[in-house]
Amino acid sequence: MGQLRRFKESDIIPLLNFCNRNMAFDQFTEPLLREKILEDPDYSPENVLIYQEDDQILGFIDGVTREINNEKIGYVKLMVVEKKYRRQGIGTQLYQELENRFKKLGMQKVRVYDVPFNYFMPGIDPRYTPALAFFEVQGFKRFADTSNMVVDLTNQSFETKEQEKELLGQGITIKRADYQDRDELLSFIEEYFPLWRYEVMNAYNSIPIAIHIALVGDKIKAFSAHNGNNFGTGWFGPMGTHPDLRGKGIGSILLKRCLRDMQNWGLEKSIIPWVGPIRFYSYYVNAVVDRVFWRYEKKV
Ligand SMILES: CC(C)(COP(=O)(O)OP(=O)(O)OC[C@H]1O[C@@H](n2cnc3c(N)ncnc32)[C@H](O)[C@@H]1OP(=O)(O)O)[C@@H](O)C(=O)NCCC(=O)NCCS
Repeated sequence: MGQLRRFKESDIIPLLNFCNRNMAFDQFTEPLLREKILEDPDYSPENVLIYQEDDQILGFIDGVTREINNEKIGYVKLMVVEKKYRRQGIGTQLYQELENRFKKLGMQKVRVYDVPFNYFMPGIDPRYTPALAFFEVQGFKRFADTSNMVVDLTNQSFETKEQEKELLGQGITIKRADYQDRDELLSFIEEYFPLWRYEVMNAYNSIPIAIHIALVGDKIKAFSAHNGNNFGTGWFGPMGTHPDLRGKGIGSILLKRCLRDMQNWGLEKSIIPWVGPIRFYSYYVNAVVDRVFWRYEKKV
């Protein structure tokens, strides 16, 4: 007979082996798993559960809660059951316990994987077909699809000098963000793209700072960032341009500057997650759709 218990920090290494053994299309590193669980801005060990028999981990669910646009949402961020022990009700026990906790915390709905700020994947990769069946049985409805694109960094140049010169002639400066820009950049993002603030704050921790900005005069009007989530994996975004300045090529320059940073870090590919404007990324940097995700929701 197994038992459910709360996650503790010393579970990280056995959990890392457990996840990598049991997830067919994904692999974690220890820093990445720590980032997903312990470095979540709303991390609470109450919502991270382990199903264990003797000393062996057989199941795991990572839940977090957020308040998004005045709505309280519980998220399943990760969930895995040991291959040989599937279809024995372990997943159901883990999920039901988490849902009960979410209800007690006043959550209005539950979603799967698409957690703003800190997520591993923006939905369920349908190749994890048992997961689709599982969540449908739990009463979830599929409400949207999204995808991750990938950019090959090994066979293209992301040079932008000429375009930057042209923009300068129109009074638009492009540069890497620095600490002096931080407050103004964060208030620009707060005003136009509030859900992206957290990832941009994280991007400030890279060396060099993984953020590029466009200024009109001395006012920030656009930005792009990378390495703000799933650190070290070539994770691009977010990026945003003030509505008045769209269509001038600013976004493409800011995007290419981030990809150049990744090339300089020795990365071979960049992931453009949870898109979005597929044509834009395909046109400017030859991005291709790499993985698709189905998004699920349940009202509780
Ligand atoms: C999804 C997952 C966590 C389910 O765990 P589990 O312990 O097997 O789930 P349960 O035994 O509680 O299944 C409950 C019900 O879900 C449905 N279900 C689960 N797996 C299924 C499958 N392969 N095919 C059809 N239905 C399935 C069934 O209705 C099942 O009840 P039943 O066995 O009485 O018919 C597990 O398959 C897994 O770890 N997959 C790999 C990782 C993964 O996909 N993670 C999730 C998101 S990407």
